[in-house]
Amino acid sequence: MSLKGWMAQLKQIGEKTERLALLSQLGQILNSTLDHQEVRRRAMEAATQLMKAEVSSLLLIDEEKNHLFFEVALGEKEEKIKTITLNLGEGIAGWVAQNGKPLIVNQPEKDSRFYKGVDDQTEFKTRNIICVPVKVKNKTIGVLEAINKKRGEDFDKEDMSLFTSLADQVAIALDNARLYQELEEMFFQTAESLADAIEKRDPYTGGHTRRVTLYSLATAKYLPLNPMEMKWLKIASVLHDIGKIGIDDQILRKPEQLNPEEFEVIKQHAVMGVEIINHIKPLRHIIPGLKYHHEQMDGAGYPEGLSGDRIPFIAKIVAVADTYDAMTTDRPYRKALSKELAIKELEKCSGLKLDRKVVEAFMRAFEKKEI
Ligand SMILES: [Fe+2]
Repeated sequence: MSLKGWMAQLKQIGEKTERLALLSQLGQILNSTLDHQEVRRRAMEAATQLMKAEVSSLLLIDEEKNHLFFEVALGEKEEKIKTITLNLGEGIAGWVAQNGKPLIVNQPEKDSRFYKGVDDQTEFKTRNIICVPVKVKNKTIGVLEAINKKRGEDFDKEDMSLFTSLADQVAIALDNARLYQELEEMFFQTAESLADAIEKRDPYTGGHTRRVTLYSLATAKYLPLNPMEMKWLKIASVLHDIGKIGIDDQILRKPEQLNPEEFEVIKQHAVMGVEIINHIKPLRHIIPGLKYHHEQMDGAGYPEGLSGDRIPFIAKIVAVADTYDAMTTDRPYRKALSKELAIKELEKCSGLKLDRKVVEAFMRAFEKKEI
């Protein structure tokens, strides 16, 4: 072989290696998140990059409606394309979804399977297209497509083999994210059932947990919490009174106001909640919310009499939500305050008993009718 031939071959090998390295890197990026929406977005980016294409789409199968919908489409036409659906068998993507086989169409106008409708609606010109099925345990759940290879090139067999590998990675990442989401939902439901178990014992607080959770999350929207902290706050709100499971019925269900000794017993629910949740290691982040939701800024709260910044932020949020709900619901020994009066009370307590920033955030949510 001539030197020129060798050089050309070497260049080809170099390019192949580079693309394989890119595939492996993209696979890692895809599988480093469990957020379903993020996986879908990354899948698109990876497809465009790996296929050197102008635009990519992920279409998922809606089993009930028996059609494909554009989950994400990167590129200028994104908004338009999101509204389009394809029947199974319709268009290149529909054909791939129905047959579970990859397909390259380099001259779409000559291919009877090509459906011009999408181009017409998006004013996009498909010059060529590569489309592969996304399969989870041999079942096609959607398709991944890349359109218009850059530099006017055609898609080839090498593209197909790389794209198929990428689709496998996308399938794994999507399935992991789905399982995680299901697990998380099941977990929330379990937490809610536990909270419901306490409410069933305490007839005077019907719906308290649900409202505290709603108020906490509405308040947190106006506070600098990251998505993970929001999740912890949600669970902490749902389970904040879980320790009441360990409180004697006679005290818990007493219709009159509690005497000081009984109140001492009720106070134990904060620490009992921790004892219950301590058994579940992944829930350690919510413990501060459970343990300290009755602490007060001036140090007059319980169980430890913490004050100011020593009170964990998550507990301060639950405290405001809890206080507001306690004031606005009837108790056997006193009538509920009106919303307006309760808000005035919160303002009075702001900085003294309750955290000022949290009360401010609560007010904003209240003004926007989110509470
Ligand atoms: Fe409580």
